[in-house]
Amino acid sequence: MSKDREQLFQNRIDAEQKIEPKDWMPDGYRKTLIRQISQHAHSEVIGMQPEGNWITRAPTLLRKAILLAKVQDEAGHGLYLYGAAETLNTTREEMIAALQSGKAKYSSIFNYPTLSWADVGAIGWLVDGAAIMNQIALCRTSYGPYARAMVRICKEESFHQRQGFDAMLALCRGSQEQQAMAQDALNRFWWPSLMMFGPHDADSAHSAQSVKWKIKRKTNDELRQQFVDQTVPQAEYLGLTIPDTDLKWNAETGHFDFGAIDWDEFSRVVNGGGLCNRKRLQHHIAASEAGQWVREAVHAYNKKHSEER
Ligand code: 3HC
Repeated sequence: MSKDREQLFQNRIDAEQKIEPKDWMPDGYRKTLIRQISQHAHSEVIGMQPEGNWITRAPTLLRKAILLAKVQDEAGHGLYLYGAAETLNTTREEMIAALQSGKAKYSSIFNYPTLSWADVGAIGWLVDGAAIMNQIALCRTSYGPYARAMVRICKEESFHQRQGFDAMLALCRGSQEQQAMAQDALNRFWWPSLMMFGPHDADSAHSAQSVKWKIKRKTNDELRQQFVDQTVPQAEYLGLTIPDTDLKWNAETGHFDFGAIDWDEFSRVVNGGGLCNRKRLQHHIAASEAGQWVREAVHAYNKKHSEER
C-alpha cells in the first residue's frame, strides 16, 4: 500500500504538481521540509542581529532608514517561513525550542561579527545575494506554502542585495580608508558566503532526495557556481579583489574556477565554534524571555474573545 502511495506521490512531483498541507506526503518529505523551512526561518531571524548591531551607527539618516527597513523585512521573512513550516504539523514553540537548544541550525554566516559599516554593505551584497540565488530556485519548490512564501521574500531580497551593493559602491568611490574598509569586509565575508550553499553535492546528506522530491530545484554546487559567476564581475566593477588566488575564468566551461573552501571552518562554525554562536543564541533567548508577557497577553486576549464569539 505505502509503496503505491509513494509512487503516486512521486508521480505528482514529477508532473510538477504542488503539494499542499492536506495532501498525503511521505513522512520523510514532511520531516525534511520541517527541517529546511524552520532552519531557513531561524536564519532570517538570527540574521537580524549582525546587521541590527549597526542601526544606531549608520553613517547617514538615509542609510539608517534603509537598514531599519531591511532588518524589519528579515523578521517578516522569518514569520512567513515559520507560518509555512506550521502547515506541516509542527508548532512555533517546538521550532524555537529546537533553535534555542542548539538542536536546529541556522546559516553559519550569521556567526561572523560585523566589525565595520562596510560589513553591512558586504552582507547585503554577498549574503543576500547568495540567499537570492537559492531562494529564486525555491520559488519553484514542490511544497506549495514554501514556494508561495518565497515569491514574496524574493521581491524584498532584491532590495536587500541592491542596497548592500550601493553601500559598497559608496565606500569604493570614497577615501582610501573607505576603500580599504570595503576590501576588508569582502575578505572576511567572501568564503563564509560560499559556505551558505552547503557542502559539496557529493558530501550533502539531503540533496539527492531533496532534488528527487523537487524541494531543491538546483544543487548546492550549481547555486554556488551561479553565485560566483554573477558576483565576480560585480567585485571588479567595485574595484575590489576577491580573496581567492585560484579564481580564474574557464573559457571551456564558461564559469569561474575557484579555490577550495575550508570545510573545517564550516564544520567548526556550524557546530557552535564560530566567533558569535553563543552570543546569537543568548540574545535570542533573552529577547524571547523579554517578550513572553506579550505572547501571554495575546493568547489571553484571543482566548477571551473566542469564548465570547
Ligand atoms: N549553515 C549551517 N548549516 C548548514 C549550512 C550553512 N551554511 N549549509 C548546510 N548546512 C547543514 C544542513 O542544514 C544539514 O544539516 P541538518 O541535517 O542538521 O539540517 C547539513 O549541513 C548538510 O547539508 P545539506 O546540503 O545536506 O542540507 P540541505 O539539503 O538542507 O542544504 C541548504 C542546505 C542549501 C542551506 C538548504 O537547507 C536550503 O536551501 N535552505 C533554504 C535556504 C536557507 O536556509 N538559506 C539560509 C540563509 S537565509 C538568509 O540568508 C536570509 C537573508 O535574508 C539574509
